[in-house]
Amino acid sequence: MVRGRDWEARFADGMHRRINSATVWAADDPDGTVAELEAWYERRGIDPIFKLTDASAPGLDELLAGRGYLPDARVAVMTADLPAGRRSAPAADVTLSDAPSEEWAGSFGDMAGYGPRQRRLLDATLGRIDRRAVYASLRREGSIVSVGMSVAEDRHAGVFEMITHPDHRGRGHAGSILDALLGWMSGPGGATVAYLQVLEGNQPAERLYRGAGFTPRYRYWYRVRSAGLSTTPH
Ligand SMILES: CC(C)(COP(=O)(O)OP(=O)(O)OC[C@H]1O[C@@H](n2cnc3c(N)ncnc32)[C@H](O)[C@@H]1OP(=O)(O)O)[C@@H](O)C(=O)NCCC(=O)NCCS
Repeated sequence: MVRGRDWEARFADGMHRRINSATVWAADDPDGTVAELEAWYERRGIDPIFKLTDASAPGLDELLAGRGYLPDARVAVMTADLPAGRRSAPAADVTLSDAPSEEWAGSFGDMAGYGPRQRRLLDATLGRIDRRAVYASLRREGSIVSVGMSVAEDRHAGVFEMITHPDHRGRGHAGSILDALLGWMSGPGGATVAYLQVLEGNQPAERLYRGAGFTPRYRYWYRVRSAGLSTTPH
């Protein structure tokens, strides 16, 4: 990642767009800033992706549209306050670990339909996490069928990589995983606010998160020139 005065450019060679995209909060010379960021990504062999919010540099969305960028993947950021000391222990069938086991990452990759390259990127991305983190899994008949994880930084903790095997959905497994993660966040995680990101229109996920007390705070979206990079949408 590199940071300018009013922009940030993230690069992880793939995986989620949020870690392979640029944010520009203000620009005296928007065309020049965009051109500089395009060159930065092109030097790394990928098409630039810009992440925008209502707080992005004024006119940036239109400027990118004029340069041939298409809007993509609208994402809601949701948050929930974490009341201290009010959560119980995780459900008996949920396991929490402070490191991603090979089985955890393999199960997530299989459920997400990852190929070998995405799996390598997942391992590399998880390996770079240098904050307090926890990895939750739930088993049925010996196999992991639902996972999620959280990373805490100061008073904020994020929920990531929530997924349940398609054959096991609608049985409350993700709810149990999320509950265990929320318990970790407000306990060992030391956080007071939980946040997560969900693609607009992902109704099962939105319902899960609303049911756990999350409410939408703001939205972001991407502008992309092509889908060349191996990224997941948010
Ligand atoms: C989102 C997801 C993790 C939910 O997993 P799950 O184990 O089926 O969830 P649960 O059974 O714990 O259900 C939790 C809530 O979601 C609701 N839900 C589950 N499936 C649903 C569906 N197909 N449509 C609408 N709501 C649904 C449940 O009704 C429940 O809400 P309720 O308690 O008010 O009834 C699962 O659908 C999934 O893996 N989706 C693909 C990956 C994904 O989108 N992850 C989220 C990324 S932000």
